[in-house]
Amino acid sequence: MAHRIVLIGFMGAGKSTVGPILAARLGYDWVDTDAVIQGRAGAPVTAIFRDRGEEAFRELEAEVLADLAQRTGIVIATGGGAAAQERNREFFTRGARVFHLRVSLRSVRERTGADSGRPLLSRGDAEVQRLYDERARIYEVLGSAVETDGTSPDEVAERIISLLAGPTVSRSPGEIG
Ligand code: S3P
Repeated sequence: MAHRIVLIGFMGAGKSTVGPILAARLGYDWVDTDAVIQGRAGAPVTAIFRDRGEEAFRELEAEVLADLAQRTGIVIATGGGAAAQERNREFFTRGARVFHLRVSLRSVRERTGADSGRPLLSRGDAEVQRLYDERARIYEVLGSAVETDGTSPDEVAERIISLLAGPTVSRSPGEIG
């Protein structure tokens, strides 16, 4: 049976790098929700945050997820904040195989550099740490964890393929609290 594979994890976890590799190996379609949002908005993520605010971005993000919710035979990379939004909970808990690309904050900083095009990473160390801690808890509940620190994107894709052979773990939104 063709799966709907959803990649979650903090900014810089490698979702958009691993996604196409995984999709090619499985013969699946591939979509990056940030790219779809940018296409629909006709503007980069940074401009959407700056000109319309984070809430407008979250609304676009929720619409894109809703449109993808019935697809199978597809790998979907989601933005780091999508899984943390209560309004998107069903997308992550119904029918998808969700993988959490686990990354340390240190690797996030190494991979994203100074100008990452990610507005939330410029909010200062304390705020980024707070977001990281808050979301880590949610990612752990929603997805099967795959380590990415010191691991190549190819290896991460391979690991996901081997996990796909195992049982589906069903997640209850109540576990998030
Ligand atoms: C965000 C992550 C970004 C993008 C936006 C907000 C977040 O995606 O959706 O900047 O809230 O963590 P990546 O996780 O692909 O960087």
